[in-house]
Amino acid sequence: MTTAKHDRRTFLAMSAGLVGLGLGFPARAQTRAPDADVLVSRGGAIEVDLEARFGPTRLAGRSARLFSYGGRVPGPRIEVRPGDEVTLRFRNNLPEPTNLHFHGLHVPPTGNADNIFLEIPEGERLTYRFKIPENHPAGTFWYHPHLHGLVAKQVFLGMAGLFVVRGELDEVPEVAAAREQFAVLKDFEVAGGRVPPPSPMEFVRGREGSLVTVNGEVEPEWSLEQGGLLRLRLLNASTARFYRLKLDDHPLYLIATDGGALEEPYELDELLLAPGERAEVLVRGDRKPGRYTLWTLPYNRGNGGMGMGGGMMGGARGDTRPRPLAHLVYRGKRKTALPLPERTGRVPELGVPVRRRRFVLGHSMRPGRGMVFTINGQVFNPGRIDTRVRLGTVEEWEIANMGVLDHPFHLHTNPFQIVSRGGRPERLRAWKDTVLVPVNRSVRFRVRFEDFAGNAVYHCHILEHEDLGMMGIVRFEEEG
Ligand code: C2O
Ligand code: CU
Ligand code: CU
Repeated sequence: MTTAKHDRRTFLAMSAGLVGLGLGFPARAQTRAPDADVLVSRGGAIEVDLEARFGPTRLAGRSARLFSYGGRVPGPRIEVRPGDEVTLRFRNNLPEPTNLHFHGLHVPPTGNADNIFLEIPEGERLTYRFKIPENHPAGTFWYHPHLHGLVAKQVFLGMAGLFVVRGELDEVPEVAAAREQFAVLKDFEVAGGRVPPPSPMEFVRGREGSLVTVNGEVEPEWSLEQGGLLRLRLLNASTARFYRLKLDDHPLYLIATDGGALEEPYELDELLLAPGERAEVLVRGDRKPGRYTLWTLPYNRGNGGMGMGGGMMGGARGDTRPRPLAHLVYRGKRKTALPLPERTGRVPELGVPVRRRRFVLGHSMRPGRGMVFTINGQVFNPGRIDTRVRLGTVEEWEIANMGVLDHPFHLHTNPFQIVSRGGRPERLRAWKDTVLVPVNRSVRFRVRFEDFAGNAVYHCHILEHEDLGMMGIVRFEEEG
Protein backbone atom coordinates (compact mmCIF):
# COMPACT_ATOMS: atom_id res chain seq x y z
CA MET A 1 0.00 0.00 0.00
CA THR A 2 1.44 3.26 -1.14
CA THR A 3 1.06 5.44 1.94
CA ALA A 4 2.45 2.83 4.26
CA LYS A 5 5.38 2.03 1.98
CA HIS A 6 6.08 5.69 1.58
CA ASP A 7 5.90 6.16 5.33
CA ARG A 8 8.26 3.29 5.87
CA ARG A 9 10.91 4.76 3.63
CA THR A 10 10.60 8.20 5.13
CA PHE A 11 10.94 7.00 8.65
CA LEU A 12 13.74 4.60 7.89
CA ALA A 13 15.61 7.53 6.37
CA MET A 14 14.88 9.69 9.38
CA SER A 15 16.06 7.05 11.72
CA ALA A 16 19.21 6.41 9.73
CA GLY A 17 19.83 10.13 10.00
CA LEU A 18 19.53 10.04 13.75
CA VAL A 19 21.90 7.14 14.01
CA GLY A 20 24.28 9.06 11.75
CA LEU A 21 24.35 11.90 14.26
CA GLY A 22 26.22 9.63 16.59
CA LEU A 23 23.46 9.06 19.14
CA GLY A 24 24.24 12.47 20.55
CA PHE A 25 21.63 12.48 23.25
CA PRO A 26 22.28 14.23 26.51
CA ALA A 27 22.88 11.66 29.24
CA ARG A 28 20.05 12.91 31.38
CA ALA A 29 18.03 9.72 31.37
CA GLN A 30 19.60 6.92 33.32
CA THR A 31 17.94 3.78 32.09
CA ARG A 32 19.92 1.13 33.94
CA ALA A 33 18.21 0.02 37.07
CA PRO A 34 20.15 -2.31 39.38
CA ASP A 35 18.29 -5.17 37.73
CA ALA A 36 19.35 -5.29 34.06
CA ASP A 37 16.03 -6.82 33.11
CA VAL A 38 14.26 -3.64 34.13
CA LEU A 39 14.76 -0.26 32.49
CA VAL A 40 13.29 2.64 34.44
CA SER A 41 12.78 6.24 33.30
CA ARG A 42 14.39 9.10 35.20
CA GLY A 43 13.81 12.82 35.11
CA GLY A 44 10.93 12.61 32.63
CA ALA A 45 12.67 10.52 30.00
CA ILE A 46 13.92 7.09 29.13
CA GLU A 47 16.37 5.98 26.47
CA VAL A 48 16.43 2.34 25.62
CA ASP A 49 18.66 0.39 23.29
CA LEU A 50 16.82 -2.68 22.15
CA GLU A 51 18.18 -5.31 19.85
CA ALA A 52 16.15 -8.04 18.17
CA ARG A 53 18.30 -11.16 18.08
CA PHE A 54 18.29 -14.73 16.93
CA GLY A 55 20.50 -17.17 18.77
CA PRO A 56 21.05 -19.23 21.88
CA THR A 57 18.87 -17.88 24.65
CA ARG A 58 18.30 -19.04 28.19
CA LEU A 59 14.87 -20.54 28.61
CA ALA A 60 13.70 -22.52 31.60
CA GLY A 61 17.27 -23.29 32.71
CA ARG A 62 18.40 -24.46 29.27
CA SER A 63 19.54 -22.94 26.04
CA ALA A 64 17.36 -22.72 22.95
CA ARG A 65 17.72 -20.89 19.66
CA LEU A 66 15.06 -18.21 19.99
CA PHE A 67 14.13 -14.77 18.75
CA SER A 68 14.48 -12.28 21.57
CA TYR A 69 14.90 -8.70 22.66
CA GLY A 70 18.44 -8.36 23.93
CA GLY A 71 18.93 -12.10 24.35
CA ARG A 72 16.28 -12.48 27.04
CA VAL A 73 12.83 -14.00 27.10
CA PRO A 74 10.76 -12.15 28.06
CA GLY A 75 12.45 -8.95 26.87
CA PRO A 76 13.51 -6.28 29.39
CA ARG A 77 10.69 -4.61 31.27
CA ILE A 78 10.41 -0.94 30.44
CA GLU A 79 8.95 1.32 33.13
CA VAL A 80 7.82 4.87 32.50
CA ARG A 81 5.60 7.54 34.04
CA PRO A 82 2.95 9.75 32.49
CA GLY A 83 4.59 12.68 30.70
CA ASP A 84 7.82 10.80 29.94
CA GLU A 85 9.60 11.09 26.62
CA VAL A 86 10.48 7.66 25.29
CA THR A 87 13.39 7.15 22.93
CA LEU A 88 13.91 3.58 21.87
CA ARG A 89 16.83 2.85 19.60
CA PHE A 90 15.91 -0.39 17.94
CA ARG A 91 18.24 -2.60 15.98
CA ASN A 92 17.03 -5.54 13.96
CA ASN A 93 19.56 -8.34 14.02
CA LEU A 94 17.04 -10.99 13.08
CA PRO A 95 17.45 -12.79 9.76
CA GLU A 96 14.16 -11.16 8.62
CA PRO A 97 12.29 -7.85 8.88
CA THR A 98 10.39 -6.91 12.00
CA ASN A 99 9.01 -3.86 13.84
CA LEU A 100 7.57 -2.91 17.23
CA HIS A 101 4.12 -2.36 18.63
CA PHE A 102 3.37 -0.90 22.05
CA HIS A 103 0.26 -2.82 22.95
CA GLY A 104 -2.32 -0.82 24.86
CA LEU A 105 -0.43 2.47 25.05
CA HIS A 106 -2.39 5.57 24.15
CA VAL A 107 0.27 7.16 21.92
CA PRO A 108 0.22 8.16 18.23
CA PRO A 109 -0.13 5.24 15.78
CA THR A 110 1.87 7.20 13.22
CA GLY A 111 5.36 8.55 12.56
CA ASN A 112 8.05 6.93 14.67
CA ALA A 113 5.63 6.22 17.52
CA ASP A 114 3.38 3.14 17.71
CA ASN A 115 3.37 2.77 13.93
CA ILE A 116 2.91 -0.85 12.95
CA PHE A 117 3.11 0.02 9.25
CA LEU A 118 6.85 0.61 9.60
CA GLU A 119 9.09 -2.21 8.50
CA ILE A 120 12.66 -2.57 9.71
CA PRO A 121 14.68 -4.77 7.35
CA GLU A 122 17.28 -7.16 8.72
CA GLY A 123 20.42 -5.40 9.84
CA GLU A 124 18.74 -1.97 10.03
CA ARG A 125 17.98 0.39 12.88
CA LEU A 126 15.07 2.61 13.70
CA THR A 127 14.54 5.01 16.56
CA TYR A 128 11.07 5.01 18.05
CA ARG A 129 10.04 8.19 19.84
CA PHE A 130 6.89 9.17 21.61
CA LYS A 131 5.63 10.91 24.69
CA ILE A 132 3.47 9.19 27.26
CA PRO A 133 0.53 11.61 27.68
CA GLU A 134 0.41 13.41 31.05
CA ASN A 135 -3.00 11.86 31.74
CA HIS A 136 -2.04 8.32 30.72
CA PRO A 137 -3.39 5.75 33.16
CA ALA A 138 -0.98 3.54 35.06
CA GLY A 139 -1.06 -0.02 33.85
CA THR A 140 0.53 -3.15 32.48
CA PHE A 141 1.21 -2.80 28.77
CA TRP A 142 3.63 -4.65 26.51
CA TYR A 143 5.63 -4.59 23.32
CA HIS A 144 5.95 -7.17 20.57
CA PRO A 145 6.55 -7.34 16.80
CA HIS A 146 3.67 -6.46 14.47
CA LEU A 147 4.78 -7.08 10.89
CA HIS A 148 1.80 -8.69 9.18
CA GLY A 149 2.57 -12.27 8.18
CA LEU A 150 5.43 -12.71 10.65
CA VAL A 151 3.81 -11.75 13.93
CA ALA A 152 2.85 -15.20 15.19
CA LYS A 153 6.22 -16.67 14.30
CA GLN A 154 8.24 -13.90 15.93
CA VAL A 155 6.18 -13.80 19.09
CA PHE A 156 6.08 -17.58 19.36
CA LEU A 157 9.87 -17.64 19.07
CA GLY A 158 10.16 -15.37 22.10
CA MET A 159 9.64 -11.69 21.30
CA ALA A 160 7.58 -9.95 23.96
CA GLY A 161 8.29 -7.66 26.88
CA LEU A 162 6.41 -5.65 29.47
CA PHE A 163 5.91 -1.90 29.19
CA VAL A 164 4.70 -0.57 32.51
CA VAL A 165 3.28 2.86 33.16
CA ARG A 166 3.66 3.80 36.85
CA GLY A 167 1.15 6.23 38.29
CA GLU A 168 -1.89 6.59 40.46
CA LEU A 169 -2.61 2.91 41.00
CA ASP A 170 0.93 2.41 42.28
CA GLU A 171 0.34 5.13 44.85
CA VAL A 172 -2.78 3.61 46.41
CA PRO A 173 -1.28 2.85 49.86
CA GLU A 174 -2.56 -0.74 50.11
CA VAL A 175 -1.35 -1.48 46.58
CA ALA A 176 2.01 0.15 47.28
CA ALA A 177 2.37 -2.03 50.40
CA ALA A 178 1.81 -5.24 48.45
CA ARG A 179 4.71 -7.31 47.15
CA GLU A 180 4.74 -6.87 43.38
CA GLN A 181 5.23 -9.84 41.10
CA PHE A 182 5.10 -9.64 37.33
CA ALA A 183 4.13 -12.78 35.45
CA VAL A 184 4.58 -13.04 31.70
CA LEU A 185 2.77 -16.20 30.63
CA LYS A 186 4.19 -17.68 27.47
CA ASP A 187 4.42 -21.11 25.87
CA PHE A 188 7.22 -22.46 23.72
CA GLU A 189 8.02 -25.56 21.73
CA VAL A 190 11.64 -26.63 21.81
CA ALA A 191 13.15 -29.82 20.43
CA GLY A 192 16.92 -30.34 20.43
CA GLY A 193 17.44 -26.69 21.35
CA ARG A 194 15.39 -25.43 18.40
CA VAL A 195 11.84 -24.39 17.74
CA PRO A 196 10.39 -26.68 15.08
CA PRO A 197 8.08 -24.99 12.56
CA PRO A 198 4.36 -25.35 13.23
CA SER A 199 2.28 -27.85 11.33
CA PRO A 200 -0.23 -26.23 8.96
CA MET A 201 -3.02 -27.36 11.27
CA GLU A 202 -1.29 -25.87 14.31
CA PHE A 203 -0.83 -22.65 12.43
CA VAL A 204 -4.49 -22.38 11.48
CA ARG A 205 -5.78 -23.12 14.96
CA GLY A 206 -3.18 -21.03 16.68
CA ARG A 207 -0.09 -22.77 17.96
CA GLU A 208 0.18 -23.93 21.55
CA GLY A 209 3.61 -25.00 22.77
CA SER A 210 4.07 -27.80 25.26
CA LEU A 211 6.54 -25.83 27.40
CA VAL A 212 4.63 -23.31 29.45
CA THR A 213 6.71 -20.65 31.19
CA VAL A 214 6.25 -17.80 33.60
CA ASN A 215 8.87 -15.09 33.03
CA GLY A 216 10.81 -17.67 31.01
CA GLU A 217 10.89 -20.11 33.92
CA VAL A 218 9.03 -23.29 34.76
CA GLU A 219 6.97 -23.24 37.94
CA PRO A 220 8.72 -20.41 39.77
CA GLU A 221 8.17 -20.05 43.50
CA TRP A 222 6.98 -16.77 44.94
CA SER A 223 6.94 -15.94 48.58
CA LEU A 224 4.19 -14.25 50.50
CA GLU A 225 4.16 -13.14 54.12
CA GLN A 226 1.35 -14.28 56.31
CA GLY A 227 -0.81 -11.21 56.60
CA GLY A 228 0.83 -9.74 53.51
CA LEU A 229 -0.52 -8.92 50.09
CA LEU A 230 0.77 -10.05 46.73
CA ARG A 231 0.15 -7.90 43.66
CA LEU A 232 0.29 -10.21 40.69
CA ARG A 233 0.61 -8.44 37.35
CA LEU A 234 -0.23 -10.89 34.60
CA LEU A 235 0.29 -10.79 30.85
CA ASN A 236 -0.75 -13.46 28.38
CA ALA A 237 2.06 -13.17 25.81
CA SER A 238 1.22 -16.45 24.08
CA THR A 239 0.19 -16.38 20.45
CA ALA A 240 -2.78 -18.67 20.99
CA ARG A 241 -2.82 -20.33 24.41
CA PHE A 242 -5.44 -19.25 26.93
CA TYR A 243 -4.78 -19.25 30.67
CA ARG A 244 -7.63 -20.05 33.01
CA LEU A 245 -5.99 -19.17 36.29
CA LYS A 246 -6.87 -20.50 39.67
CA LEU A 247 -4.87 -20.29 42.88
CA ASP A 248 -5.32 -23.05 45.46
CA ASP A 249 -7.47 -21.90 48.34
CA HIS A 250 -7.14 -18.17 47.58
CA PRO A 251 -9.57 -15.90 45.80
CA LEU A 252 -8.10 -13.37 43.40
CA TYR A 253 -8.99 -9.72 43.87
CA LEU A 254 -8.95 -8.10 40.47
CA ILE A 255 -7.73 -4.49 40.69
CA ALA A 256 -6.79 -3.70 37.09
CA THR A 257 -7.52 -4.90 33.57
CA ASP A 258 -5.77 -4.18 30.23
CA GLY A 259 -6.01 -0.40 30.44
CA GLY A 260 -5.44 0.11 34.16
CA ALA A 261 -7.22 0.32 37.50
CA LEU A 262 -10.75 -0.72 38.31
CA GLU A 263 -12.73 1.42 40.73
CA GLU A 264 -12.48 -1.17 43.48
CA PRO A 265 -11.25 -4.76 43.93
CA TYR A 266 -13.50 -7.42 42.42
CA GLU A 267 -13.34 -10.90 43.87
CA LEU A 268 -12.79 -13.77 41.45
CA ASP A 269 -12.53 -17.48 41.85
CA GLU A 270 -10.69 -17.90 38.58
CA LEU A 271 -9.43 -15.60 35.88
CA LEU A 272 -9.42 -16.29 32.16
CA LEU A 273 -6.72 -14.50 30.18
CA ALA A 274 -6.86 -14.70 26.40
CA PRO A 275 -3.79 -13.83 24.30
CA GLY A 276 -2.88 -10.17 24.63
CA GLU A 277 -4.89 -9.59 27.81
CA ARG A 278 -3.48 -8.37 31.13
CA ALA A 279 -4.84 -8.34 34.62
CA GLU A 280 -3.66 -7.32 38.05
CA VAL A 281 -4.88 -9.22 41.07
CA LEU A 282 -4.20 -8.99 44.77
CA VAL A 283 -3.75 -12.15 46.81
CA ARG A 284 -4.21 -12.00 50.56
CA GLY A 285 -1.82 -14.00 52.67
CA ASP A 286 -4.57 -15.11 55.03
CA ARG A 287 -4.25 -18.89 54.85
CA LYS A 288 -2.22 -21.40 56.80
CA PRO A 289 1.49 -21.40 56.02
CA GLY A 290 2.19 -23.75 53.15
CA ARG A 291 2.69 -24.05 49.46
CA TYR A 292 -0.16 -23.15 47.14
CA THR A 293 -0.19 -23.72 43.40
CA LEU A 294 -1.31 -21.32 40.69
CA TRP A 295 -2.89 -23.46 37.99
CA THR A 296 -4.11 -23.03 34.50
CA LEU A 297 -7.24 -25.13 33.99
CA PRO A 298 -8.33 -26.74 30.74
CA TYR A 299 -10.11 -24.41 28.35
CA ASN A 300 -11.79 -25.31 25.09
CA ARG A 301 -11.33 -22.44 22.67
CA GLY A 302 -13.87 -23.58 20.13
CA ASN A 303 -15.09 -26.73 18.48
CA GLY A 304 -12.55 -26.28 15.70
CA GLY A 305 -15.14 -26.76 13.00
CA MET A 306 -16.44 -30.17 14.02
CA GLY A 307 -19.32 -30.80 11.68
CA MET A 308 -18.03 -28.15 9.30
CA GLY A 309 -16.01 -29.53 6.44
CA GLY A 310 -15.17 -32.56 8.56
CA GLY A 311 -13.47 -30.70 11.38
CA MET A 312 -11.19 -28.62 9.21
CA MET A 313 -9.24 -27.25 12.13
CA GLY A 314 -9.43 -30.22 14.39
CA GLY A 315 -10.30 -29.51 17.98
CA ALA A 316 -8.64 -26.70 19.86
CA ARG A 317 -8.95 -28.02 23.34
CA GLY A 318 -5.35 -27.53 24.43
CA ASP A 319 -4.56 -29.08 27.79
CA THR A 320 -7.01 -31.61 29.11
CA ARG A 321 -5.84 -31.41 32.71
CA PRO A 322 -4.80 -28.61 35.06
CA ARG A 323 -1.22 -27.50 34.65
CA PRO A 324 0.83 -25.91 37.43
CA LEU A 325 2.23 -22.50 36.54
CA ALA A 326 3.79 -21.24 39.75
CA HIS A 327 3.77 -21.78 43.50
CA LEU A 328 3.08 -19.45 46.33
CA VAL A 329 5.01 -20.15 49.50
CA TYR A 330 4.31 -18.49 52.83
CA ARG A 331 7.45 -17.06 54.39
CA GLY A 332 7.45 -14.84 57.44
CA LYS A 333 4.59 -13.18 59.22
CA ARG A 334 3.42 -9.62 59.66
CA LYS A 335 2.30 -8.30 63.03
CA THR A 336 -0.74 -6.69 61.47
CA ALA A 337 -2.38 -7.95 58.32
CA LEU A 338 -2.46 -5.63 55.30
CA PRO A 339 -5.99 -4.70 54.25
CA LEU A 340 -7.32 -4.71 50.71
CA PRO A 341 -7.79 -1.26 49.23
CA GLU A 342 -11.32 0.09 49.16
CA ARG A 343 -10.85 2.20 46.08
CA THR A 344 -8.30 1.64 43.38
CA GLY A 345 -9.20 4.27 40.79
CA ARG A 346 -11.85 5.99 38.74
CA VAL A 347 -13.32 4.65 35.54
CA PRO A 348 -15.50 7.39 34.08
CA GLU A 349 -18.51 6.30 32.09
CA LEU A 350 -18.21 6.90 28.36
CA GLY A 351 -20.88 9.10 26.80
CA VAL A 352 -23.66 8.15 24.43
CA PRO A 353 -22.35 6.66 21.19
CA VAL A 354 -22.88 8.67 18.01
CA ARG A 355 -22.59 5.58 15.90
CA ARG A 356 -22.89 1.80 16.08
CA ARG A 357 -20.96 -0.67 13.96
CA ARG A 358 -20.91 -4.40 13.65
CA PHE A 359 -17.92 -6.59 12.89
CA VAL A 360 -18.42 -10.24 12.04
CA LEU A 361 -15.54 -12.63 12.64
CA GLY A 362 -15.37 -15.66 10.37
CA HIS A 363 -13.16 -17.78 8.18
CA SER A 364 -13.20 -19.33 4.73
CA MET A 365 -11.14 -21.40 2.33
CA ARG A 366 -9.52 -19.38 -0.45
CA PRO A 367 -8.26 -21.12 -3.58
CA GLY A 368 -4.48 -21.13 -3.54
CA ARG A 369 -4.35 -19.63 -0.06
CA GLY A 370 -5.96 -22.20 2.14
CA MET A 371 -7.72 -21.16 5.30
CA VAL A 372 -8.12 -17.44 5.90
CA PHE A 373 -9.73 -15.59 8.79
CA THR A 374 -11.98 -12.67 8.00
CA ILE A 375 -13.65 -9.60 9.46
CA ASN A 376 -16.90 -8.77 7.67
CA GLY A 377 -15.95 -11.31 5.02
CA GLN A 378 -12.63 -9.66 4.16
CA VAL A 379 -9.01 -10.50 4.78
CA PHE A 380 -6.54 -7.79 5.75
CA ASN A 381 -5.49 -5.47 2.96
CA PRO A 382 -2.87 -2.86 3.88
CA GLY A 383 -4.17 -0.61 1.09
CA ARG A 384 -7.74 -0.47 2.30
CA ILE A 385 -9.20 1.70 5.06
CA ASP A 386 -11.95 -0.45 6.56
CA THR A 387 -13.35 1.90 9.14
CA ARG A 388 -13.28 5.69 9.44
CA VAL A 389 -14.02 7.26 12.79
CA ARG A 390 -14.12 10.84 14.04
CA LEU A 391 -11.79 11.95 16.79
CA GLY A 392 -13.68 13.23 19.81
CA THR A 393 -16.62 10.86 19.38
CA VAL A 394 -17.84 7.75 21.17
CA GLU A 395 -18.90 4.70 19.17
CA GLU A 396 -20.40 1.38 20.10
CA TRP A 397 -18.95 -1.63 18.33
CA GLU A 398 -20.48 -5.05 18.26
CA ILE A 399 -18.13 -7.92 17.53
CA ALA A 400 -19.92 -11.11 16.52
CA ASN A 401 -18.13 -14.42 16.26
CA MET A 402 -19.72 -16.56 13.55
CA GLY A 403 -16.70 -18.83 13.31
CA VAL A 404 -15.70 -22.06 14.98
CA LEU A 405 -12.87 -20.83 17.20
CA ASP A 406 -12.84 -18.20 19.93
CA HIS A 407 -11.27 -14.92 18.87
CA PRO A 408 -9.82 -12.30 21.25
CA PHE A 409 -10.52 -9.00 19.50
CA HIS A 410 -7.99 -6.21 19.99
CA LEU A 411 -8.13 -2.53 19.07
CA HIS A 412 -5.05 -0.31 19.01
CA THR A 413 -4.57 3.20 20.43
CA ASN A 414 -7.91 3.83 22.19
CA PRO A 415 -9.08 1.66 25.10
CA PHE A 416 -12.71 0.59 25.34
CA GLN A 417 -15.31 -0.40 27.93
CA ILE A 418 -17.35 -3.54 27.49
CA VAL A 419 -21.10 -2.92 27.55
CA SER A 420 -22.42 -6.46 27.14
CA ARG A 421 -21.32 -9.99 26.43
CA GLY A 422 -23.65 -12.50 24.82
CA GLY A 423 -26.50 -10.03 25.37
CA ARG A 424 -25.82 -9.73 29.11
CA PRO A 425 -24.90 -6.34 30.49
CA GLU A 426 -21.34 -6.19 31.75
CA ARG A 427 -21.11 -5.69 35.49
CA LEU A 428 -17.60 -4.34 35.72
CA ARG A 429 -16.69 -0.96 34.33
CA ALA A 430 -13.13 -1.43 33.18
CA TRP A 431 -10.64 -0.32 30.55
CA LYS A 432 -9.89 -3.03 28.03
CA ASP A 433 -8.06 -3.23 24.72
CA THR A 434 -8.56 -6.93 24.05
CA VAL A 435 -11.77 -8.86 24.61
CA LEU A 436 -12.57 -12.50 24.14
CA VAL A 437 -15.40 -13.13 21.69
CA PRO A 438 -16.35 -16.80 22.10
CA VAL A 439 -17.86 -18.88 19.31
CA ASN A 440 -21.46 -17.88 18.52
CA ARG A 441 -21.35 -14.91 20.85
CA SER A 442 -21.16 -11.24 20.43
CA VAL A 443 -19.61 -8.58 22.58
CA ARG A 444 -20.41 -4.87 22.55
CA PHE A 445 -18.05 -2.18 23.69
CA ARG A 446 -17.88 1.59 23.70
CA VAL A 447 -14.80 3.50 22.75
CA ARG A 448 -13.94 7.17 22.62
CA PHE A 449 -11.54 8.03 19.83
CA GLU A 450 -9.20 10.66 21.12
CA ASP A 451 -6.08 12.69 20.55
CA PHE A 452 -4.32 10.91 17.72
CA ALA A 453 -5.15 11.05 14.02
CA GLY A 454 -3.93 8.43 11.58
CA ASN A 455 -4.30 4.77 10.75
CA ALA A 456 -4.26 1.96 13.28
CA VAL A 457 -5.58 -1.60 13.31
CA TYR A 458 -7.94 -3.96 15.06
CA HIS A 459 -7.43 -7.70 14.87
CA CYS A 460 -7.68 -11.08 16.48
CA HIS A 461 -4.93 -11.53 19.08
CA ILE A 462 -4.54 -15.17 18.25
CA LEU A 463 -1.62 -13.98 16.23
CA GLU A 464 -1.82 -16.79 13.70
CA HIS A 465 -5.34 -15.57 12.87
CA GLU A 466 -4.09 -12.02 12.49
CA ASP A 467 -1.38 -13.25 10.09
CA LEU A 468 -4.04 -15.23 8.21
CA GLY A 469 -6.07 -12.10 7.55
CA MET A 470 -8.19 -11.30 10.60
CA MET A 471 -7.22 -7.61 10.79
CA GLY A 472 -8.67 -4.33 9.57
CA ILE A 473 -7.53 -0.72 9.42
CA VAL A 474 -9.26 2.06 11.29
CA ARG A 475 -8.55 5.67 10.39
CA PHE A 476 -8.90 8.27 13.13
CA GLU A 477 -10.00 11.48 11.39
CA GLU A 478 -9.93 15.04 12.67
CA GLU A 479 -13.29 16.68 13.09
CA GLY A 480 -14.58 19.07 10.40
CU1 C2O B 1 -0.66 -6.92 20.79
CU2 C2O B 1 -2.00 -5.34 17.34
O1 C2O B 1 -1.31 -6.17 19.04
CU1 CU C 1 -1.93 -3.85 20.28
CU1 CU D 1 -8.80 -15.59 16.19
